[in-house]
Amino acid sequence: MSALPIETPRASAPNRKSPVTFGRLAEMKRAGDPIVMVTAYDHPSAEVAQNAGVDLILVGDSAAMVVLGHSSTVPITMNEMIMLCSAVRRGAATPLIIGDMPFGSYESSNETAVMNAQRFIKEAGCDAVKLEGGGTSVERARAIISAGIPVMGHVGLTPQTAAALGGFKAQGRTAAAAQKVIRDAQALEDAGCFSVVVEAVPAAVGEELTKRLGIPTIGIGAGRDTDGQVLVYHDLLGLRDGPNAKFVKRYADLRGQAIAAVTTYSDEVRAGIYPGPEHVYSIEPGELSELRETLGSINASEDQS
Ligand code: KIV
Repeated sequence: MSALPIETPRASAPNRKSPVTFGRLAEMKRAGDPIVMVTAYDHPSAEVAQNAGVDLILVGDSAAMVVLGHSSTVPITMNEMIMLCSAVRRGAATPLIIGDMPFGSYESSNETAVMNAQRFIKEAGCDAVKLEGGGTSVERARAIISAGIPVMGHVGLTPQTAAALGGFKAQGRTAAAAQKVIRDAQALEDAGCFSVVVEAVPAAVGEELTKRLGIPTIGIGAGRDTDGQVLVYHDLLGLRDGPNAKFVKRYADLRGQAIAAVTTYSDEVRAGIYPGPEHVYSIEPGELSELRETLGSINASEDQS
């Protein structure tokens, strides 16, 4: 079977030669240059993200759902996250790589939070970590930053605690609720976070929050006026079955293409088409004759015994 066509990066993708820095992100906010973040969970997806010229890669705990098949982000462990982050690090050198601290890895104490954040940096080579929520998460963020590790916050819909928020649904839809989202984000900025993800809030709330923060906001379902956008890799590539959140835009149908490709492979194996002559290794005729003679004499001696 011939190889699938390889698409070259679009002309608009910045051809990055030097790594993105935290200073560069701050400059992008000041200049009004949109920041692009995508999730990745393994070596090939990291390579794709880097080749596409994204600024930030988030190794999201969404891996629990899109890679490991759980029904929420809660079950993923530190060890699983470290393995995924290490693979992503090996696949991408220029985007900043942010490791998502999983549920249970930072809530109980500053010490636990710092110890687990250090694992993302030391063992997986991440540049920063992300944690969810305001409240005690602000204190955890401050502790991790004091230990020298850059932190990204995450407000609005926080999937690790979605049940407490009434499920996977938009947040900040009343004045009071929106104020809380903005206050949480401001507290994270005051704690020293370099950026904050804003998930599933009305576009106007995303805009108000972004105007009030000095650090870049990265929206997912937070409208057009955040400083950047993030999407889950599997969602944007159409790698997943089933309904998507309102904010997801599918840029491809890779699941459909993958099913078609594996179906064609299966059909060709069953029909004796694959492997074709171009896929097989050869052996010198003289070597083959010798092999057959040797096998023949082995068989003959086995028959006599
Ligand atoms: O885990 C994740 O992928 C995330 C993004 C949705 C921001 O937190």
